[in-house]
Amino acid sequence: MTLLAFETSCDETSVAVVKDGRVLASVISSQTKLHAEYGGVVPELAAREHLRNLLPVARGALAEAGVTGAQVDAVAATQGPGLPNALLVGLKAAQAAAFALRKPFVGVHHHEAHLYSPWMTGSPPAADFAAFQPSISLIVSGGHTLLVQVESELKHRVLGSTIDDAAGECFDKTAKLIGLAYPGGPEIDRLAEHGNPRAFDFPRPMLGDATDDFSFSGLKTSVRYFIRDHPQVLEDAKQLRDLCASVQAAIVEVLVAKTIRAAGRIGVKCVTASGGVTCNRSLRNALATACRKGHLTLRLAEPQLCTDNAAMIGMLAERRLKHGLGGTSVDAEILPGWELE
Ligand code: KG4
Ligand code: ZN
Repeated sequence: MTLLAFETSCDETSVAVVKDGRVLASVISSQTKLHAEYGGVVPELAAREHLRNLLPVARGALAEAGVTGAQVDAVAATQGPGLPNALLVGLKAAQAAAFALRKPFVGVHHHEAHLYSPWMTGSPPAADFAAFQPSISLIVSGGHTLLVQVESELKHRVLGSTIDDAAGECFDKTAKLIGLAYPGGPEIDRLAEHGNPRAFDFPRPMLGDATDDFSFSGLKTSVRYFIRDHPQVLEDAKQLRDLCASVQAAIVEVLVAKTIRAAGRIGVKCVTASGGVTCNRSLRNALATACRKGHLTLRLAEPQLCTDNAAMIGMLAERRLKHGLGGTSVDAEILPGWELE
């Protein structure tokens, strides 16, 4: 089965071609530079950029895969959650393509696609569902932090989520307070590499809390007060690296501890992680250490599949069709606030 997949939920325009569990092409046009000037994603600009870039990106993906429209068996797109106008571009283009080609359309939940992305490996990536195990899955994207129990393929339930800021938001907002460029996560990761994570003591919110929920806005506020009270830290390269390492350590400790605790409580032997923040090297290392200690198998999404991409959308759409879950109407609307369940 050959699928053409579109992803336009935020600031990456991406189109992929997936065939029988293999990614034949995945083209991503990132708008990061455009939004960096404004210190964050500007929704209207994002939608206009998607409109400008979608067809060249789609042409590029089809050419790279050596696939023509006539050879496409189904068309998929992110239906939600995401920025409304950004979602509209990819969803309506995909539905129009499916309508014109007389092929099924599949609307995909963006976080469900992140959720199953750790089951894609290799370069180019291919599905590895033969290795599937029941797992506890951490999804850490820009706006969401979710802990999910995956019982079997496509059967999952959300255990907890953030009650305010997501971990990605905490990275981005503290980076902004420090004066780093958008998106702040990769910048903090880079500066933290040679910093001391124990230099400054920041709170570990909800670490000992009985629920699987997260909260990161208090941590962001404590960074704000810290900078107000110690402005000289920003002027000193070493102390700046220490600050980044200390904030990162607080975020990572909470994410890892709550994930491992949930795995132990539920009694699964596998942990997975996905979404943009899973690019973070400290998080990857800390999860690896904790899973080794707890005799748990760890599946981390490959770094190029952590940030937004259409390959994961196409892969999940193919699995859904294979499992007989059927398509979505070509008239279906975007679902900007769609919650994972
Ligand atoms: O999954 P994603 O690409 O987009 C959404 O679906 O939201 O995640 C983007 C988030 C941003 O908050 C970005 O700062 C963060 O992922 N991120 C990182 C790193 N790379 C991306 N955070 C920490 N360390 C990184 N290396
Ligand atoms: Zn995402």
